[in-house]
Amino acid sequence: MVDTGNWFDVLSETRQRKFLASQRDGLWIEVHGQKLLNFASNDYLGLSTHAQVCAAAKTAIDKHGLGSGASRLVSGDDPLLHDFERDFAAWKGFEACLMLGSGMLANMGLLQALADRHTHIFSDKLNHASLVDGARLSGAKVHRFSHLDLNILESQLQKNAAAKRIIVSDGVFSMDGDAADVQTLLNLAETYETIVVIDDAHGTGTVGTDGKGLVGQAGLAGHGRLLEVGTLGKALGSYGAYILGSASMIEGLKQRMRTLIYSTALPVCVLAGAQEALNIIKQGDLIKKLHHNIGFFLENTQGLHLLPSQTAIQPILLGSDIQALHAAQKLREVGFFVPAIRPPTVPQGQSRLRVTLSAQHQPQDIQRLIEALFNLG
Ligand SMILES: Cc1ncc(COP(=O)(O)O)c(C=O)c1O
Repeated sequence: MVDTGNWFDVLSETRQRKFLASQRDGLWIEVHGQKLLNFASNDYLGLSTHAQVCAAAKTAIDKHGLGSGASRLVSGDDPLLHDFERDFAAWKGFEACLMLGSGMLANMGLLQALADRHTHIFSDKLNHASLVDGARLSGAKVHRFSHLDLNILESQLQKNAAAKRIIVSDGVFSMDGDAADVQTLLNLAETYETIVVIDDAHGTGTVGTDGKGLVGQAGLAGHGRLLEVGTLGKALGSYGAYILGSASMIEGLKQRMRTLIYSTALPVCVLAGAQEALNIIKQGDLIKKLHHNIGFFLENTQGLHLLPSQTAIQPILLGSDIQALHAAQKLREVGFFVPAIRPPTVPQGQSRLRVTLSAQHQPQDIQRLIEALFNLG
């Protein structure tokens, strides 16, 4: 007889993650009864609480109800999914788009569909867990290269010939805020005849004056060797995820992706909200505000141990877990919510505070946070 109590004790004894029940109210977050200014959300444009976005979602609930009731292959394939896919692909500059339940599902299903045990996957060491797990699930041979080190990537490509090879990278890196060199990755893909998967979950809606992300900014949208993935759960203020590519790539994925076929379709209300969010992003004002806030933060934080980042993700390297937890606690005491990010999310010895900026923050909010950061000592 298995002692299940002991089994679960063992699962939890090596990890001390805390799931804080926390309620958001715009820029504020209430944790254990304390109202804090939130610098920890990926809702970079504040669209998750935007009146027009919420109104669009509510109207859709009134019309279509809450859940979608089935997988897209059964009866959950609402026409709005197709409309959104068409619109989103056109905005991003790709031939086709496929919507999925979440970024985690998109990446796990995508790599599982694309690769098999004869495939070689070349993956940046700091890629998001969903890409790591997708690669594992595929059974492919995985080569991890040092973060952003494209010389190492090239030597791995030279040494490992195979009929099917895939380079996989985050666009904007989620815990570091720095960015992949998409142009060089695609040059390597041309030279070594591979395809490239870029996950620009954090670049979409935040990078470039139009918010089209790193790929759009580099003028590489629609490249024949490129698949772009991202989530609606961040700057688009909603939930769900997209994959962009050529029409034939997307059709192939539709036939093969288990996380599409065997999972309930996105609710229409979630998509209706995302559609409205996209319309607002296209107007450009919120992106301008976000870029202004990033510039203000960078100008006024010289002397802090910031990692090199020009994006809305601004990590402050502290080193040990204890230092990071202590700093996060001190910030809470003066009214700010900035989480400590620790291993295994980041490498050992690189625990940090991860500040995320939003278009919603006012310069005075950011100024007060900066003062608190300097006061950490
Ligand atoms: C780079 C990256 N990819 C994928 C995901 C997963 O997306 P989702 O939250 O929609 O599952 C995240 C974060 O959540 C992420 O940071």
